[in-house]
Parts: sequence; structure tokens; C-alpha cells
Amino acid sequence: MTIPVQSDAFTPRHILVAGGAGFIGSAFVRSSLARYPEVKITVLDKLTYAGNLDNLAPIAHQQGYRFVRGDITRPDDVTAALDGCDALVNFAAETHVDRSILDAGAFVSTDVYGSYVLLEAVKTLGVARALFVSTDEVYGDVEHGASVESDPFAPRSPYAASKAGGEMLIRSYYITHGLPVLVTRGSNTYGPYHYPEKLIPLMTTNALDGLPLPVYGDGRQRRDWLHVDDHAAGIDAVLRRGALGEAYNLGGGAERENIDVVTAILDAVGKPRSLMTYVQDRAGHDRRYALDSSKARALGWAPLHPFEQGLRETVEWYRTHQEWWRPLKSGEYAAYYATQYAERLTKA
Ligand code: NAD
Ligand code: DAU
Repeated sequence: MTIPVQSDAFTPRHILVAGGAGFIGSAFVRSSLARYPEVKITVLDKLTYAGNLDNLAPIAHQQGYRFVRGDITRPDDVTAALDGCDALVNFAAETHVDRSILDAGAFVSTDVYGSYVLLEAVKTLGVARALFVSTDEVYGDVEHGASVESDPFAPRSPYAASKAGGEMLIRSYYITHGLPVLVTRGSNTYGPYHYPEKLIPLMTTNALDGLPLPVYGDGRQRRDWLHVDDHAAGIDAVLRRGALGEAYNLGGGAERENIDVVTAILDAVGKPRSLMTYVQDRAGHDRRYALDSSKARALGWAPLHPFEQGLRETVEWYRTHQEWWRPLKSGEYAAYYATQYAERLTKA
């Protein structure tokens, strides 16, 4: 089958950004409003532990922007927010693999059922284009080479399985109902405003506080790192120039072992490497992800941030924005951290 990689450019007038108060969604909102002053953006977000209005503070008073608190699993919330929009970009999801191992319920609800609710609303309201943000994790562990979009799904964590389930529904609505949908599958993303449960912000904030840096297993797992601004730009390129019904890989082209990333963070913060602490591995831990992004590159997109520089700048952002992350590390986070790490660190 020949796959078209480009269609006529689409210029959205009013985008509903679901999950826009999270890490990548808020970067997409900030960069879209800066780049396209004429576009209107409505953010629909439940403000779970990962959603944070501080991420949107830089554009909170900008003309054309509005925030609505709501849940993508609730049809009334979605229909009300989507009314009048000609485009939807969905970032809303439960996103942390470790939490999906502890309890997968919210992942199935938001990442699968939430996708269904959004698709139904797009169908009913006749939205012109709907982009669903997915992940390279749907391909599962990639021992050699790089995943292409036509590869079979082989998810291995409840998070990845929920994202794959959502994608299956998206595909079915394209085939069965002709819905104008697009999918992006991004690789591991890093940058400012990243909730400190994920590898880079967790290690950076722990290093700044002189706390142990818990490395799972042998730390030789490989991830392909993509700067958040490059991820947002890739989503924008696919929304405007992607072919309907297609999926697009967005890889950073910066494959690194976890221990090299952690070492670079310690060096950037100026803390001793002895803080790196090997702990019990994540269950079902994927060893490697890798993406072939030629299809997205054919749309004119390419990642622009070299990883080592982007990582140094990210570490510097966390050093100079402690008012952003310190409040996040108390309360719910502290309870999660104790569940996930206390025993691991004691046994290390
Ligand atoms: P995040 O966890 O930082 O943010 C998720 C956002 O969704 C939060 O604002 C949260 O409040 C909101 N949300 C959760 N459940 C909701 C619901 N039921 N209704 C409405 N809002 C809800 O996530 P992120 O890292 O920015 O990821 C965004 C998307 O990108 C996700 O779909 C994720 O699967 C995908 N992705 C992430 C990465 C990565 O490395 N972070 C890489 C590839 C793909
Ligand atoms: O690949 C894209 C995916 O990247 C996204 O779809 C997910 O939403 C996002 O969370 C991310 O998943 P990972 O599981 O790869 O990211 P995380 O930051 O949790 O872990 C990165 C690697 O670091 C992984 O091999 C596990 C390891 N790790 C992570 C944490 C939190 C550790 O060694 N120690 C830790 O404490």
C-alpha cells in the first residue's frame, strides 16, 4: 500500500487542546500562540496531579486563549469545550509507566475510553481535523533498528497498552466513519515544565537537593531524547500538513543510555557521581525504543535542539525555577515517591 505523506495545508482557526496544562501540551499552547497570533486556543484539562496552570502562566492573559477545567472521559465536558473549534489536539492522558504498573485503572479510563469520547464528539460536531498524540512505546521493545509507522504494535506496559488501545479506536473511526484524524508517536521528551516523576526532572531535582538518584536495573536501557519544543513543532507540522488517517513518528535522533543521561545531569549540577544509586528494576522494563522519523521529516519537520545542549539548558531551568517544582514535590508526589522508591533505596 502506498501511503500519502502530505495533503493540502490546513490552517486551524480555533484549536481545542485537551491536556494542555501538562508538560508537552503546555509547550504546544505557548509556542502556537507565539507563532500564530491569529489562532484561538481553548485548553480543556482535568488538572490531575500532572496538570498545572503554572505551565500556562506565560500566556494566561493572551488574547485568544481560554482555559476550561474538564475531563475527556465526560462527553458533556468535551462537547461544550469543542463547540466552535475546527481542530482538536489531544495530549490528555495518564503518562507515567511506573504509575501504570502500580494501578492501571486511570490509564484505561483516560487513554482508551477518553479517546473514544473525543472521537464521538469530533464525529458529532464535524470538527475539521483531530490530532491524537501517542507514543513510541506502542511499538514495544526495539532490539535492533528503528520502528516505522507500519510496524505492528507490541506494547509491554499497561501505559503503552492503553495508548495502543486508544490508537486502535482512532484508526477504526478513520476507516469506519471517515473521521479526519492524525496520530503522532513521539519519543522520550525532555525540557522545562516536566513533572518531576520522569527520569530527567526527577534526577535533576534530586541532584540539586543532594539526594540519591535511583537508576533502575543496570541503567543501560536506551531512550531517544526529543526536546519538548521540537515535539511541539512536530505536532504542529503534522496537524497542518499531515495526511488524514496517517501516523507520524517524531524521534529526537539522540539515543542515549540512561546512565549516560544521569551522569551528564550530575556533572551539570556539579554533584558527585556517587549519588547515582542502582535500585530494583522496573517490571517489564523496555530496554530500547528507536524511531525512524523520515515520514515526519518529509513534512519539513526536524528536531533542532542538540541533546547535550538541551539537557544543560534544562538542568539550568530547574536550577533557576525552584519555585515551580518545589511545591510539586510535596503532598501527592511525596506519597508516590515513598511507594515507588523507599524500599528500592533501602535495599540498594
Ligand atoms: P503530562 O502527564 O505532563 O500531562 C497530561 C495532562 O493531561 C495533564 O495536564 C493532566 O491534567 C491532563 N489529563 C489527564 N487526564 C485527563 C482527563 N481525563 N481529562 C482531561 N485532562 C486530563 O503528559 P505529557 O508528558 O505532556 O504527555 C502528553 C501526551 O504525549 C500524552 O498523550 C503522552 O502519552 C504523549 N507522549 C509523552 C511523551 C513524554 O516523554 N512525556 C513522549 C511521547 C508521547
Ligand atoms: O517513549 C515515550 C515515553 O517516554 C512516553 O510515552 C511516556 O509518557 C514517558 O513517561 C516516557 O516513558 P519512559 O518510561 O521511557 O520514561 P521515564 O522518564 O519514566 O524513564 C526513562 C528511563 O529511565 C526508563 O528506562 C526508566 C528509567 N528510570 C526512570 C525513572 C523515573 C530510572 O532508571 N529511574 C527512575 O527513577
